[in-house]
Amino acid sequence: MTPILPGSTIGFLGGGQLGRMAAMAARTMGYDVHVLDPDAHCPARALASQTITARWADVDAAAKLAEGADVVTMEIEQIPVLSLEAAQRHAPLHPSPAVLFIVQDRARQKEWLRNQGFPVGPFRVVRSAEDTRVAQHEFGSCIVKATHGGYDGRGQARVHHEDEVNAAWASIGAPECVAERFLDLSAELSVMVARSESGEMRAYAPSRNHHTDGVLTWSVIPSGFDPFIEKHAAEIACGIAERLGVVGLLAVELFLLDDGTLCVNELAPRPHNTYHHSERACVTSQFEQLVRAVCGLPLGDTDVVRPAAIYNLLGDIWSGQQAPDFAGVLALPGVRVHLYGKREARPGRKMGHLSACGATADQALARVIDAYQLLASSAASS
Ligand SMILES: Nc1ncnc2c1ncn2[C@@H]1O[C@H](COP(=O)(O)OP(=O)(O)OP(=O)(O)O)[C@@H](O)[C@H]1O
Ligand SMILES: [Mg+2]
Repeated sequence: MTPILPGSTIGFLGGGQLGRMAAMAARTMGYDVHVLDPDAHCPARALASQTITARWADVDAAAKLAEGADVVTMEIEQIPVLSLEAAQRHAPLHPSPAVLFIVQDRARQKEWLRNQGFPVGPFRVVRSAEDTRVAQHEFGSCIVKATHGGYDGRGQARVHHEDEVNAAWASIGAPECVAERFLDLSAELSVMVARSESGEMRAYAPSRNHHTDGVLTWSVIPSGFDPFIEKHAAEIACGIAERLGVVGLLAVELFLLDDGTLCVNELAPRPHNTYHHSERACVTSQFEQLVRAVCGLPLGDTDVVRPAAIYNLLGDIWSGQQAPDFAGVLALPGVRVHLYGKREARPGRKMGHLSACGATADQALARVIDAYQLLASSAASS
């Protein structure tokens, strides 16, 4: 493939925070950026020389984005295949519609993983409260997830007893879900893999991640897990990237179970919240790596240069639309503030994150946790 060189234009399907940070990396490297997003005030707008405001299902808008771009990539997986195919008629599109087709449906993705021999927890595809009851009987505690459209734990319900089944099914309100056994997690980790069209592949060191109520709270790299577990996680992630034939990025979320085994939670063929620390920790950030991979440039070195951690900032610590006072945390050693430029703060909405470097992963993590607590307490007292 002839590389798409700086000076060319990258079209982004999706202008949320992931698109914004990837667009910043693209701009740094001298690319122009165009964005398509349903929200006219999307976070990536500030970086784009052209923003198309349209629904994901608008095939003409997807075609228009691609017409103005030398290559198209995406920050979310929930884009209808018809729109992806419309874009692909006008410019190279990475990752491909075939990859997105597998990944964007939770049931299809899990079945694909299982059929390919990758480790996944027990699950059933359910289409009614009755199906869900059967799953609950089989699994005991389970977690029911809509096959389409969920993120940050939305479109999910946890069911521990039979008498919770009806309410859980009704609360999700989707025609099809995956019911998974509720697993005893010892820890959570993820592995980011970059792959280019030539088949060149680079994995990042695994990230250790902590979620609260289904939403990522913090991530730290290096993970500190046993090297054997890290190696196994990397093998699984690279195996999936290769089998999928993904071009671009693939984040593989994994669970470490109490018995020491790993199983895949889910896949994301794009930049991922758990690798925001790569901007500070790694030779090449995930965002620059995406640009390199989709433009057919050599992939960058993924080595960890220094430990780093991130802590997510949700709209909960905004008071109304008033941002918390960031001056205090910026005085802490190693701490940086990353904000996504979202105009409206809502509880649960990802508004930004804090990052910190440290001499060790534990120190980096302690720094972001301390910084967050300072920020949250100043927000509560204002
Ligand atoms: N089967 C399970 N057993 C135990 N915990 C689970 C299970 N599935 C999900 N969780 C918990 O919920 C979190 C979010 O789950 P999942 O990744 O499926 O949701 P999501 O909405 O796609 O989230 P995100 O967009 O943040 O990736 C997991 O990281 C984990 O902490
Ligand atoms: Mg997840």
